[in-house]
Amino acid sequence: EKGGYKHFMAKEIAEQPAVLGDALHHYLGEEGTEITLPGGGIDFSGVTRITMVACGTAYLACLTAKYWIERLARLPVDVDVASEFRYREPPIPEGTLAIFVSQSGETADTLAALRYCTGRADRIVSVVNVPESSIARESDLALPILAGAEIGVASTKAFTCQLAVLALVALDAARQRGRLAPADLARHLASLQAMPARFNAALALHEPIGRLARRLAEATDVLFLGRGAMYPLALEGALKLKEISYIHAEGYASGELKHGPIALVEKTVPVIVMAPHDRLFDKTVSNMQEVMARGGPVLLITDARGAAEAGSGVWETLIMPEASDLFAPMLYALPVQLLAYHTAVAKGTDVDQPRNLAKSVTVE
Ligand code: F6R
Repeated sequence: EKGGYKHFMAKEIAEQPAVLGDALHHYLGEEGTEITLPGGGIDFSGVTRITMVACGTAYLACLTAKYWIERLARLPVDVDVASEFRYREPPIPEGTLAIFVSQSGETADTLAALRYCTGRADRIVSVVNVPESSIARESDLALPILAGAEIGVASTKAFTCQLAVLALVALDAARQRGRLAPADLARHLASLQAMPARFNAALALHEPIGRLARRLAEATDVLFLGRGAMYPLALEGALKLKEISYIHAEGYASGELKHGPIALVEKTVPVIVMAPHDRLFDKTVSNMQEVMARGGPVLLITDARGAAEAGSGVWETLIMPEASDLFAPMLYALPVQLLAYHTAVAKGTDVDQPRNLAKSVTVE
């Protein structure tokens, strides 16, 4: 049932080009030019703000979507972890669209947060992998991510499929709000549709990452840095690594480095910098140089243009296929998953069943 792979996680990582392609095809149809959400879709006309709630990796998908929705649709977005949201009991003003993201659709805190919003938010939308789950049933509209069963405890393909569906929600909101010219929408849809092929190309990173992982496996602390929409992915990189390799890891927004975490930098602490060649690239490179000046070994994950401009002194560079500025975090999820996977394999931990963790957290 692992289809020839050593672990479900490896199989699920490898499935991403196919399931992403299926999910996009499902929502974009034959022509691939129109976003069609089920149940009449989401009417954004009365929406003045969005509140997004989830746990763990699904929370980090929400955090990424905040960058997309705010930039494309100019709608303010609040993102909360469900266990905080539910007990804080935040005010839900009129015009609020509430979005809950959950692979299992059964996470207790996310379900409780949804129930808090029932009768308070104008509309409740969920993004789920299990269409018959409690969270799907209790929402006004459930958007399936179509990732297929995810067995590995560490979420991989569900994360990228959550991102795909949330990217379409962001684009649909922008279109309805008159913020996206048809040509720009077509350009964004084309870059999403190019994603499966880019994923396929990036799977070649298995080999160099397998090699690097032997050194990462010796570390006791690892930092992940990213800026803009790559910041949530830095958090996801750290979460994934600690979850399955048991190495202490932290994700930071690159600009926060000098406000504390730089004190941790020394030669035994690898710093993983995720920096596609986008409008923030130069800023991130200057943070990277601050790390190198203090002897921190830097693993730079970038594209060919970024690698050419980054200068020397890094420990290693991983070169990614080009991706649109906006949707790069989807593609960069792949090296993040592979780093955690190969490091865990190098350490000999139980990749699919990490200690103390459950696939579905149905108790708070
Ligand atoms: C991390 C991971 C967890 C889940 C979290 C939410 O790899 O899998 O952090 O993302 O427990 O689970 P769902 O999405 O089922 O609500």
